[in-house]
Order: sequence, then structure tokens, then C-alpha cells
Amino acid sequence: MEGVSPPLTADEARRVAAVEARLVREAAAQGFLPFDRFMEISLYAEEIGYYAQEADPFGPSGDFYTAPRVTPLFGWTVADRILAVRRALGGDRPFEIYEVGPGDGGLAASVLEGLTRQSSDLGGITYHLIERSAPLARRALARARAAARDGNVPVVEDPAVGSDGPFEGIVLGNEFLDAQPARRLHWTGTEWHELGFRAQEKRLEPAEAPLITTVPPPELPTPPEPDTVLEISPSAEGWVRSVADHLVRGELLLLDYGYDQPELLSAHSKGTVASVRRHRSMPRPEEAPGASDLSIFVNFTRIRDAARRAGLIEIAYGSQAGALGDWGFAEELASAVKAARSAEEEVRTRLAAKNLLFGFDRFRALELAAPSSSPALSTLTRPDA
Ligand SMILES: C[S@@+](CC[C@H](N)C(=O)[O-])C[C@H]1O[C@@H](n2cnc3c(N)ncnc32)[C@H](O)[C@@H]1O
Repeated sequence: MEGVSPPLTADEARRVAAVEARLVREAAAQGFLPFDRFMEISLYAEEIGYYAQEADPFGPSGDFYTAPRVTPLFGWTVADRILAVRRALGGDRPFEIYEVGPGDGGLAASVLEGLTRQSSDLGGITYHLIERSAPLARRALARARAAARDGNVPVVEDPAVGSDGPFEGIVLGNEFLDAQPARRLHWTGTEWHELGFRAQEKRLEPAEAPLITTVPPPELPTPPEPDTVLEISPSAEGWVRSVADHLVRGELLLLDYGYDQPELLSAHSKGTVASVRRHRSMPRPEEAPGASDLSIFVNFTRIRDAARRAGLIEIAYGSQAGALGDWGFAEELASAVKAARSAEEEVRTRLAAKNLLFGFDRFRALELAAPSSSPALSTLTRPDA
């Protein structure tokens, strides 16, 4: 839903003023502020960026929903997949679960509940939370630790994947890639330009400049039409490479919304930046920086290419709904329905399941294996993946 921005709270107004001042200062000093830098400051600037807020960005009183908020069936089914990966790797060895960008810990809590319900032997598992936002990291740690108590799984905070060295296990990210700073590139018909902003009398004005830095491989495509905008996130691609450097055996499992590049170029040729506040789309991303979420559709062609170049082996890629089905969603739903204490609870459970399967239709699941474990993990792959 697009609409008028609801009035800013006093805290939001303070943050927006501080973020705008910082953006304008940097744009004026550099002459041009590329979009990825705009996104980095707006979302993550210490103390003032969107993710520095104390208020909850997720759910009805926040700005947007993610799948863990819709139903715990999501996390329980991801837990089934994690246990399948652990069994395929041999079971009784140390197994690290790194969740990147856990937000308020909703997914961590339901994954830990799911692990506890499905297995009596969780010895050797450690759940690591890597969250850039300080207020969300505090919430995620408290929620995950409460959920991990019954299964006796240690939950720790870490600065980065593999910060304790190479490891075996799984790296999990839900809506992590779409929140990484992205470059917006404009095909003029003859060459690619960088989109961003210039400072104009203490305001940001959309602007265009020659490419700020060279684009890392693979080469940019030639779009079928002039005036096409394509987003790419070299920082997300670099992050995939850093995971490959540390994951000795196991899997990188990414759930996110996005498309392959040909589809982005043909069906989303004006670009995909979404700026969202109180569940409404803002017409311009620079409207309330620091008080609205910013995200882009993941360019899965480039993420998969980065993974391949880093030596990871793709074991599955497809719709999130299809992946959930393969991992045991129907069984989880059947047991949740059986456990419902009233007809009303049963209906709520079924509706939430429907919302998850059909409301997240742009979402994909990408599973990548460390090379030494790919033969074991490939046995888990569905035949048509
Ligand atoms: C769109 S939210 C998704 C939250 C959660 N995964 C969910 O599904 O509800 C993106 C999250 O990633 C976090 N994040 C972004 N970049 C990060 C980074 N480099 N390291 C750790 N966390 C990061 C943000 O702070 C935010 O909590």
C-alpha cells in the first residue's frame, strides 16, 4: 500500500533530522552520495540509523512483517531442515548454527523450540546470533536463550560468522540479504551510471554519476531497453564469500525475496527499492531516512554466482513455499492442528500457514554446501531441485 507518511514520533523526528544532516554533509563533501552509502547510513548509522531505534520495527505496531512473525511453523520447519543437515553430516560432532540478522529473535526462538521438540540429543549444538542492531541483539539474545532452555542449547552472540575460526554446521539468514546496502545502476542505453544523491541547499536531490567504482565480476548485462535500473549488492556478495572462507562442512541457507537477473531486468526495470513505514510504501526512499525501512529485491543471479566463485556447491534453489514443503511443513502443520486447544486456534493455525505459503510468493530458498560436505548434503536434495 502506497500512501502519505504517518506523522513522525518525537524520537523518529530526531533521528530523521540527524540522519538527513549526516547524509547531506557526506553528499556535499563527496559531491555525490551513491545509493549503497545512503542505505548504509540510513539503516545502520550508530545511534541514529533505522536499526538503532529502540522501538520494534516488526509486526503490527512496527513497519513490516517477516515470516517468523506470521507463524512459528516457519521456524519449526527450518529446524527440521537443520536436523536433517546435521544427521547427513554425521550427527554426533560439534555443530554450529549461525543466524545472521536475527532481528528480534523470532526465528531463533521457533527454531530452538523446533529443535527441542524434534530431537532429544542436541549435544554439541551451539546457536550463534550475529545482529548488527544493538537493541535487536539484546532482544534476540533474551528470546533465544529462553527458548533454548529446555533443549539445553548454548546461545551466544558473535560479531561475525566464523569469528571463532573455521566450523561445521549451518549459516541461516532470513531477510538478511535484502537489507544489505545495494548499488543502483542505471543503463542509459549506451553505458551504466551510478544512482544516488547530491546535496542541494541542505536537502538530498536524486542524482546520477559515472560508476563510482568498478563493478566486481560477473560483468553487467546489456539490458534489452534503455533507461533500465538494476540493483546489485557487492557487500552481500562479499559476505557470501566470507562465509565460504569459514564453513568447513555444512550449509549456507538463505531465505529471501528476489529474482534472477533476467527477470529483474524485464519485469522490474525501474528498480526494486522499497521504503516502508507503518506498513505503507513511501514514494521516495529519501523521504524519512532513519524512520523507514529500506530494502531491495535480492539479485539471486549474482548471489549464486558469488557462491560458485567462492567454491560453494548449490544443492537447492527454488520457491520458499516449495522448500518448506520439502523440509516437512505439512507434518508440522498437521501436528500443530492436532495440538490446537479450540476450533478457533485450529482456524488461526491454518490461516497463518496459508499466509506463509501464499503471502510470501516472491521468496526463494537457496541452499549452498561447503564442497567437502556436498556429497552428503546432496542426498537431501529433492529430485527436481
Ligand atoms: C529485514 S531484518 C530481518 C530480521 C529477521 N531475520 C526476521 O526475519 O525477522 C534484517 C536484519 O538484519 C540485520 N543486519 C543487517 N546487516 C547485518 C550485518 N552485516 N550483520 C548482522 N546483522 C545485520 C538488521 O539489523 C536486521 O535485524
